[in-house]
Amino acid sequence: MTTDTTGTVARDGESRPGGPADSPFIRACRRRPGPHTPVWFMRQAGRSLPEYREIRATVPMLESCRRPDLVTEITLQPVRRHGVDAAILFSDIVVPVAAAGVDLDIVPGTGPVVAEPIRSAADVQRIRLITREDVSYVDEAVRQLVAELGDTPLIGFAGAPFTLASYLVEGGPSRTHAKTKALMYGNPELWHALCGRLAEVTLAFLRVQIDAGVSAVQLFDSWAGALSEADYRRFVMPHSTAVLSGLVDAGVPRIHFGVGTAELLGAMGEAGADVVGVDWRTPLDVATGRIGPDKAVQGNLDPTVLLAPWPVVEAEVRRILEQGRAAPGHVFNLGHGVLPETDPEVLTRVVALVHELSSRRADQG
Ligand code: CP3
Repeated sequence: MTTDTTGTVARDGESRPGGPADSPFIRACRRRPGPHTPVWFMRQAGRSLPEYREIRATVPMLESCRRPDLVTEITLQPVRRHGVDAAILFSDIVVPVAAAGVDLDIVPGTGPVVAEPIRSAADVQRIRLITREDVSYVDEAVRQLVAELGDTPLIGFAGAPFTLASYLVEGGPSRTHAKTKALMYGNPELWHALCGRLAEVTLAFLRVQIDAGVSAVQLFDSWAGALSEADYRRFVMPHSTAVLSGLVDAGVPRIHFGVGTAELLGAMGEAGADVVGVDWRTPLDVATGRIGPDKAVQGNLDPTVLLAPWPVVEAEVRRILEQGRAAPGHVFNLGHGVLPETDPEVLTRVVALVHELSSRRADQG
């Protein structure tokens, strides 16, 4: 292994002052007290920012994910502009799947579209295992970013097997996940073969990011909320557990996130997370009751609230900080990604407000 400086800091750096491992974000993930409640936003790098739209005007999405110079610049944009407590690598959940040989594209306004959806065991076989060389642009971008970010932690991420399988089986975004569930119920053997392979690809992709120096990882199982708890435990959890438990020795906090997962929060924590992401449907104090006292929570402002007048936003931020106090650690975030029509100045104000309200509380003891 090459000199893995940040990884080393994350592993044994809990007593080392400064550095990403001592940041408010990592402290909250580890349920340790910090100077303020940390805040970042899912999809903070993206269409809400004019400087992002300018870069992307001439470069297709997947190409932008494969150019380390652009990945670095786009990832840094929201850090510079909003002063968020963490950066998240600019990429997409389908990047490793494309690197594994699946023919796909990210279509503007639609999302990932797969040329030949997965239907058979032979299709699963064609999803190759990936090595660092297959995603060398991610390795390079992470190293550049870690050098530029200094004490600000960089979050790596990947899509979880269920959410990836949904795109691969449907061929594109789906509201009902009907084909995915038909495969899951109708051919469990093929389903488990597919998810098993996706778990291997995901684990390898996260390993590359961790070796290059990310300080935390988030596993996005955005569409897991389409399942009952029983089906989640039977068809999905073993594969997400394989990913998350495969990272224990890496020593970086693992965040596990999905949308509409009120009934799954306990299981998603059990799958092996240090932090469970919560959408806006479940208050954080209720979520903590379901997740248990040994994990931090992340969330959970409804992204559409950011489109409302400021006093509404402020009241919601206050409520969420209050309810987040029930958890042993709270990372402030949205319940899902920033909507493209969001005024970026509102995001900047939310960061300042979270910091102000949570540090005042610390002063008061
Ligand atoms: O959070 C961040 O700032 C990091 C960047 C990031 C992107 N995709 C960039 C992106 C992350 C973490 C993702 C993950 C992702 N991609 C998920 C899981 C998170 C979630 O939102 O639930 C999912 C389901 C995808 C698949 C995907 N890719 C969708 C649904 C879309 C949106 C389609 C659209 O145009 O509305 C994409 C494209 C995408 N990924 C964009 C960005 C910034 C928009 C591309 C553009 O600018 O045209």
